[in-house]
Amino acid sequence: MKRTQIRQSVGAIMAIAAVMAGAAIDESRAAQSMAPATQQAVPLGLEDPAGYIPADNPQTAQKIELGRLLFFDKRLSKNNTIACASCHLPSMAFTDGQPVSTGIKKLKGGRSAPASINRVYSKGQFWDGRAETLEDQSIGPFVSPVEHGFINHDEMVAKMRTIAGYRKLFQEVFGRDIVIEDVGKAIASFQRTIVSGNSAVDRFDVGGEEKALSASAQRGLELFRGKARCTRCHSGFNFSDEKFHNLGIGWDTNTVDLGRYLVTKNPEDIGAFKTPTLREIARTAPYMHDGRFKNLEDVVNFYNQGGIQNPHKDNTLIPLEMNEQEQADLVAFLKSLNGEGWQQIKAPTSFPK
Ligand code: HEC
Ligand code: HEC
Repeated sequence: MKRTQIRQSVGAIMAIAAVMAGAAIDESRAAQSMAPATQQAVPLGLEDPAGYIPADNPQTAQKIELGRLLFFDKRLSKNNTIACASCHLPSMAFTDGQPVSTGIKKLKGGRSAPASINRVYSKGQFWDGRAETLEDQSIGPFVSPVEHGFINHDEMVAKMRTIAGYRKLFQEVFGRDIVIEDVGKAIASFQRTIVSGNSAVDRFDVGGEEKALSASAQRGLELFRGKARCTRCHSGFNFSDEKFHNLGIGWDTNTVDLGRYLVTKNPEDIGAFKTPTLREIARTAPYMHDGRFKNLEDVVNFYNQGGIQNPHKDNTLIPLEMNEQEQADLVAFLKSLNGEGWQQIKAPTSFPK
């Protein structure tokens, strides 16, 4: 697979939105700037930023639909019990509400399932960024012993090739028999349509709708950008700097997850995890890579104390000395980040036979 990613114009996201609205698109349109006819389909707050779409995997309506089938199909697991959607539930903003996920044979992994929304705006995927593209990410879980449970990708592809309906669809979309690269491309294309914008914060901040945020949430926005120092990491329209930081999560237990260090072997990355987006955050409890915090009040209290001490802690984190009202205001702000752009995505009613 070609690794180079291009920053595709906003037109690509527009095209995604058009596909979500059921419209057929052609590739040339996808590269153009936003057309007035589909402008409303791009959620407020996401219009300007570009997304990462590899040059060799353009969004097409048929490929996205194939990706949707694959994302929800439990036959893509060793014993027909697990689909991507088992841990990334549409009803829960594409996470599972559990501290850590449960996969095949009720086995548990060591990390919490992130809300897999706005993935089109990130390069590195997973808490430790170990997948460099969404295409790579999209085939990882199939061979995880605690997720879909296949020994290797060949085993899964062999199983898929027994389903005539999939062979036909892959021929139509990719012009060849099923190979794992194309499974990754289709699922990645589908995942790029799962977006969230037009939250109350966007309507207030971008849309100029003064009543969109309560007085408390408005004060919370000021704190988020000021005294609470949150935007030092949760920056930009997707509330992430896409970098890795050590907050000390896990250093108060005897099972520290070394995070990004396991990927880079760089001592500076010990215990560092990717800054997650905060969009939809009120819907995606529990929080942090180990799912330790049940609610946003606990998260804010954690930051107020300056994180958990350890030799590798990010020095941006310091005690914030926010009083109770300020902490409540910050929580009110975080609760205003629920948006739309993903709710229309539903499980397929039938699968290829
Ligand atoms: C058994 C539960 C489970 C299954 C099944 C599963 N995931 Fe995940 N997913 C997780 C967990 C846990 C993580 C975090 C793992 C990590 O970061 O190391 C994750 C991470 C991700 C991420 C990264 C999000 C981010 O913000 O970096 C994406 C995207 C994703 N999964 C999509 C998928 C797709 C596509 C499938 C199917 C091919 C799938 N998942 C199957 C539990 C699951
Ligand atoms: C030094 C960078 C940094 C700063 C400053 C920071 N965060 Fe974070 N945030 C992160 C990282 C990294 C994680 C994931 C850490 C982990 O799981 O180990 C995270 C996780 C979170 C989560 C949980 C997300 C989820 O999906 O589980 C919330 C909520 C959050 N931060 C809110 C805030 C707020 C509010 C502030 C300001 C008080 C703030 N953050 C300041 C980097 C930062």
